[in-house]
Amino acid sequence: MCGIVGYIGYREAYPIIIKGLQRLEYRGYDSAGIVLFDGEKTHLSKTKGKVEDLRNKAENSIRTSGKLGLGHTRWATHGVPNDVNSHPHYSNSGDLMIIHNGIIENYDAIKQALIKRGYTFESDTDTEVLVNLIEEVKNKEGVKLGKAVQIALNQVVGAYAIAVFDRTKPDEIVVAKLGSPLAIGIGENEYFIASDASPFIEYTNNAVYLEDEEMAIVRIGKEIKLRKIKDDAIAYPNILELQLNLEEIEKGGYDHFMLKEIYEQPRAILDTYRGRLLANKGIIKMAGIDQNLEKFLNANRIIIVACGTSWHAGLVAEYIFEDLARIPVEVEYASEFRYRNPVITDKDVLIAISQSGETADTLAAIKLAKEKGAFVFGVCNVVGSSIARETHAGAYTHAGPEIGVASTKAFTTQITVLTLIALKLAHEKGTLSQSKYHEFLAELEGIPAKVEKTLLSNPVVEEISHIYKDSTNCLYLGRGYNFPVALEGALKLKEISYIHAEGYPAAEMKHGPIALIDEQMPVIVIATKKGHYEKVVSNIQEIKSRKGKIIAIVTEGDQSVKELADHVIEVPETSESLSPLLTTIPLQLLSYHIAVMRGCNVDQPRNLAKSVTVE
Ligand code: F6R
Repeated sequence: MCGIVGYIGYREAYPIIIKGLQRLEYRGYDSAGIVLFDGEKTHLSKTKGKVEDLRNKAENSIRTSGKLGLGHTRWATHGVPNDVNSHPHYSNSGDLMIIHNGIIENYDAIKQALIKRGYTFESDTDTEVLVNLIEEVKNKEGVKLGKAVQIALNQVVGAYAIAVFDRTKPDEIVVAKLGSPLAIGIGENEYFIASDASPFIEYTNNAVYLEDEEMAIVRIGKEIKLRKIKDDAIAYPNILELQLNLEEIEKGGYDHFMLKEIYEQPRAILDTYRGRLLANKGIIKMAGIDQNLEKFLNANRIIIVACGTSWHAGLVAEYIFEDLARIPVEVEYASEFRYRNPVITDKDVLIAISQSGETADTLAAIKLAKEKGAFVFGVCNVVGSSIARETHAGAYTHAGPEIGVASTKAFTTQITVLTLIALKLAHEKGTLSQSKYHEFLAELEGIPAKVEKTLLSNPVVEEISHIYKDSTNCLYLGRGYNFPVALEGALKLKEISYIHAEGYPAAEMKHGPIALIDEQMPVIVIATKKGHYEKVVSNIQEIKSRKGKIIAIVTEGDQSVKELADHVIEVPETSESLSPLLTTIPLQLLSYHIAVMRGCNVDQPRNLAKSVTVE
């Protein structure tokens, strides 16, 4: 879960690498480092802290020129975040430099063996072990760097995306991948290496994403050479033309990426259904579904696997698939699913949901389901990501890059894609009447405008945030389709404001959490008109009689809840099934404002990373 950047070519590497690291900071931000080769010597700078700290340190302490360099932004796995444990790491001779994203699981055994053979180590990292193993192989076997990397990687167990260079042969960088992402940007007489394409998008649109167990040698003036790490077989690079644009990955006038991404939701939802939802013709066109329709229609059940916010989108999907298409659905945490010997057959369809498309547990769950013969469908945001490539078919969410670590537009666009699939299947199966089907399509088409309207509640949400910003606990309640929204609201608050929050199905409150309610406890209740309204109103009465503070998300014009609640936030009316697309918005804004008011780092909350490529 670190970010790596490398450059070799004719430009100054330093600004490219620093800017690239800043774009990749979402992947980890506890320490950072850079090494540059100026034609004669290497210059290394590393520091605990952010890329900005690295920039300040490097510019005051090293020569920042050179046309070859590697940079790293870290999310610590082995060894605390400090200057020494930061990457890049040197080999003992000082000739080899490495950056690494991933974990070498058998590093300790290798380290002990290397120590016996005279190697010494400065850091506690697995990466320093790997670079010394490569050096030992290179010297012992008398082979070139590429071969040494290959032999060494065949001795390690774990996950990696690495880039290595040798200062005695500074015309090439060797890269390899297993389990962690690695993209190579191809320019004219220059190459870029990065965890995703954002660091090089202004220089080139041509990129190769390495597959697992592949390595490449990028050499100035030569075409990329790809090989399989295991058996040395030649692999052929699939050069993609990227669609990303620079504007999409910058803040565009907002104070934080998270706020920008919250406000992008009307556009993101529209982009997600654009070309797929033809409401006036009554058609839903999705290539991944159309080409595999029989698999879905004949499925015994759908299993959804995901983590975190994507798992919450999966829970919303469970309601909509069962409700509309009458297909049994199970929703699983990918991390549990992969280790509990689940019963899977070739009659099952597995849907994996992931914004990043790189989450290690979700990827492992996919591999397991494939081994057992299930048909695996991916719902990802990042084009060309590992999950997008590992699945049999899929549908992208088209939300655009999500940089804020707290997921917002990914969630609503995942729900949009899953709703389209459920509607399509319901229509094919005839489980939804024609008139209801057409009503749904029209309603879904109108959702971006309703999200836009919901965003107008921002000033009200900001006022409420002032009142509750110092709370230490918070309860979120919802029923039916809005129970997963309650879970998502609570997750958003805890991850960016560090306030303890719990999401519960409203009716479960009386089975335990009600004991927590007193005059200090804010309770956020989703109480929209369609879907168990009267029952939720009873739950609100129960909270009120215990003096809890009630913040209710209600349908425009609601009077009954207004009389009971301390605060109301209105959302436009829509069907119960589509209501999560609206009720989620004020909860995102609430956690955003509270986190800003508490002085938290909204876009990069402590201990988290955007892309969880370790299990
Ligand atoms: C929460 C959040 C995480 C992710 C989770 C899965 O705001 O962002 O809970 O949802 O780590 O990530 P993806 O969707 O990339 O698989």
